[in-house]
Amino acid sequence: MTEQANGRKNIVFIKNGQIVNDDFSFQGDVLIEDGIIKEVGTSLNTPADARVIDAEGKFVMPGGIDTHTHLQMPFMGTVSADDFYSGTRAALAGGTTMIIDFVIPQKNESLLEAFEKWRGWADPRVCCDYGLHVAVTWWGDQVAQEMQTLSQDRGVNSYKVFMAYKDVMMLEDPEIYKCFKVCRELGALPMVHAENGHLIAIKSAEMIDQGITGPEGHLQCRPVEVEEEATQRAVTIANEAGSPLYVVHVMSKPSANVVSKARREGKIVFGEPTAAGLGTDGSHHFDQCWHHAAAYVMGPPLRADPTTPGYLMDLLANDDLQLTGTDNCTFNTNQKALGKDDFRRIPNGVNGVEDRMSIIWEKGVHSGKMDPCRYVAVTSTTAAKVFNVYPKKGRIAEGSDADIIIWNGETTRTISAETHHQAVDFNIFEGMTCHGVAEYVITRGEIAVDNGEVKATEGHGKFVPTPPNAQFVYGRLPMRNKVASPVKVERDPYTGPIIDLSEGA
Ligand code: URP
Ligand code: ZN
Ligand code: ZN
Ligand code: ZN
Repeated sequence: MTEQANGRKNIVFIKNGQIVNDDFSFQGDVLIEDGIIKEVGTSLNTPADARVIDAEGKFVMPGGIDTHTHLQMPFMGTVSADDFYSGTRAALAGGTTMIIDFVIPQKNESLLEAFEKWRGWADPRVCCDYGLHVAVTWWGDQVAQEMQTLSQDRGVNSYKVFMAYKDVMMLEDPEIYKCFKVCRELGALPMVHAENGHLIAIKSAEMIDQGITGPEGHLQCRPVEVEEEATQRAVTIANEAGSPLYVVHVMSKPSANVVSKARREGKIVFGEPTAAGLGTDGSHHFDQCWHHAAAYVMGPPLRADPTTPGYLMDLLANDDLQLTGTDNCTFNTNQKALGKDDFRRIPNGVNGVEDRMSIIWEKGVHSGKMDPCRYVAVTSTTAAKVFNVYPKKGRIAEGSDADIIIWNGETTRTISAETHHQAVDFNIFEGMTCHGVAEYVITRGEIAVDNGEVKATEGHGKFVPTPPNAQFVYGRLPMRNKVASPVKVERDPYTGPIIDLSEGA
């Protein structure tokens, strides 16, 4: 709903807030008309017919962009519990106004058909805007051709490959290389799930043989080196293919270090930690209660080392890591129970889409690690730049979409499955008290959270195409590849004798 039914303009006027963009913050007003920001300034006149929101003492920031969700995803024999309605409604409740979900085709399934299927699921139900990444779960000429169609005609700019989930979604290195080269030709962004799937398959079977069938086995058969090695391999493959690289769900210190080092070497690599990885840890896998332990199972695993979340936050604050998603992929207790006798069958995934903004405020801003501008960068603006929807998204400026949150940085809320808006029956942040509450959330001009009350509308959200050749990603890539291209030496041919091998050496 952008224009009102009576034909009058839908005007919202936000007064006297601390307006925060990724590069600058100042006290002022924002005028919204029919879903678009019409004016940003100081001491603007209050228009007649406007809904006026007094933001004195509050932060007025671009709505969050969650780069990584799996809503109603068919996975491991079941379907994730939060669908495109409950998931996007929960997103809005927490201050996120755009999500980017993943189309995951089955092996040998057409990417285009899978894409249309996901659009069919999402379009009528989403309460906020959304984009789609497409996973490349098999390789062949058809896949390369469909990637071209997706990028040129369907608004897809990012493709995820899996180095794990052997026999289901995993690609081998030569396939990954070919896929990254196609991405480079299309100006698209390759994303990678970086874990060594061969080692996981062997080590998880060994774990079961040792009688370790519970969720603690999931963690112990995937040591940090399994993630680190794959992350480094992906960086190397992308570098050789001349493509950029986006590492999804960076969960461990060594893997984060790989991303950071690659960037220092000038490689075009982006690292995405998750709300789960920043807000909690993997010690829960050892909980006495089976369903509690199973609720934390995701891949790559949350790390048992309690200093990992703070370390990932330090790197995020200092741009060693760049932006955040959630990998929100929720399963109820009775779904997790599919793996009650064998951790390999526990559906992988945790919540986060509702709580990411509060978790990062609490652990990032309230802890003194980052200022509000950096907070906006890592929760919204950098995602908009990387996925090429900036400044339509990710900025409070004239002409941008009115995706805005009015944020109280001082009030607290305590996270609980009892009160959250997600459909799932467990919350991995249960009992955590966070500073930072979205008092108002505006999605393309519609007030979806009104003084704390969630009023999201099913079907209000729109698909947002993410065009290829993002400046932020590809700006220096052609020149970088030109400089690095192999050289040929022109020389006179060799005319001397050649050893005769015909009589055996
Ligand atoms: O555990 C996870 N991460 N579930 C969703 C699938 C994926 O790998 O992103
Ligand atoms: Zn993944
Ligand atoms: Zn329990
Ligand atoms: Zn994921």
